[in-house]
Amino acid sequence: MTFLSIQEAITRGSGKVAVRGWVYRERGSNQLKFIVLRDSTNIIQCVLERGRFEKEWSEIDKIQVEASMEMEGVIKEDKRAPSGYEISVESFKVVGGSDTFPITKDQSPEFLLDVRHLAIRSRRYSAIFKVKNTILQAFRNYYLNDGYFEWTPPIFQPNQCEGGSTLFEVKYYKEKLFMTQSWQLYGESGIFGLEKLFTISPCFRAEKSKTSRHLSEFWMAEMEAAWMQLPQLIESVEGCLAFIVKEVVEKNEEELKLLGQDVDKLRKITVPFPRITYKDALKLLKEKENVEVPFGKDLRTVEEDLIVKHFDKPVIVTNYPKAIMAFYKPADPKDPETALCLDVLAPEGYGEIVGGSQRDIDIESLKKALIDMGEKPEHYEWYFDSRRYGSVPHSGYGMGVERVVAWLCKLDNIKDAIPFPRTMLRWKP
Ligand code: 4AD
Ligand code: MG
Repeated sequence: MTFLSIQEAITRGSGKVAVRGWVYRERGSNQLKFIVLRDSTNIIQCVLERGRFEKEWSEIDKIQVEASMEMEGVIKEDKRAPSGYEISVESFKVVGGSDTFPITKDQSPEFLLDVRHLAIRSRRYSAIFKVKNTILQAFRNYYLNDGYFEWTPPIFQPNQCEGGSTLFEVKYYKEKLFMTQSWQLYGESGIFGLEKLFTISPCFRAEKSKTSRHLSEFWMAEMEAAWMQLPQLIESVEGCLAFIVKEVVEKNEEELKLLGQDVDKLRKITVPFPRITYKDALKLLKEKENVEVPFGKDLRTVEEDLIVKHFDKPVIVTNYPKAIMAFYKPADPKDPETALCLDVLAPEGYGEIVGGSQRDIDIESLKKALIDMGEKPEHYEWYFDSRRYGSVPHSGYGMGVERVVAWLCKLDNIKDAIPFPRTMLRWKP
């Protein structure tokens, strides 16, 4: 017989089926064994009767959680079974037996991270990574539909992009290089050929603080477009995020429910998103939260959380103070102490999910900003070439994929948004 996925077997609902997967739960008596089998699609209860399997009973009795098995039998609806269906087994095969699985209920988060290679088999992680898959594909499809090209930046890089303090240094033959913090400087060179580019790439940052929002290795989805200025960038960010949420709601309702997420709440996340400037944000903090932040200070996590409390959609904050922004963010001619940039803050305290900007195309002002941060402009000559030969206004942004996963899956910690998290304190398995 050909194997069906468990979900396909359930959809069929009657007759003879063959399925395979891993033992999710098992219990039994002297006469009956109930095995709940799990595959990537669902779970199903399988019943083995001693009367039929007298010869194999001692083997059946020894089957432990996580053994891999094939089951053939008759499926029927049974309201008492965990997924509403049951297979009365006629033949079975243990493909790979299992030792006593080390993961049981109520184990410490640290232990679960030590056995992460086993923990990721759980239904909860499968649900999270299905949502992540939808997010990645939605980002890709949104930009492919809009005429963008997927593009492959280098991971070993000679320059910083987002500040020297979080760079990971690597020995590269006899040289010292850095692991990428962002594709941006390369994306900015790429647009002169293909105009509209995106990438989904790992990024590395030596984050020295322990927070529930930072990873040392994370995935960033980034776009860069020639001719684009801040207002069109805002539309692109907003359109893409709304599309991602719509796709996740459409494709992952079951997963979201399993994760305890309120799907109706997500359905309301449509364009337009609220837009405020950094200065509006300071005003809001003062008037509604009695919190005073002086102009020129970056918003901390606590302050971001106080801002998003007042909205039920992601909030687009533009025009942060120029002086505290990355070197490539240009001053806004209408308000030069601020930059033509944006951050998107997710609802419910999930923090900054997107950072982006129009790009400064003035070499002298780029040089000044680099010197102010202690960098040597001569190391950026290759980058300045994108301003020397047919420079055009351009813009781009980066979306923290795991931040979006954490938000949409209602996770307490960003570590659960990636199979094998790397943080200051965790780099194995
Ligand atoms: O705001 P960031 O630093 O922006 C850039 O890197 C730009 N060069 C992107 C661009 O314009 N192409 O990072 C972008 C996003 C943040 O908003 C956040 O969601 C995520 O990347 N991010 C992290 N996610 C997890 N762990 C970390 N340590 C992160 N650092 C940034
Ligand atoms: Mg940022």
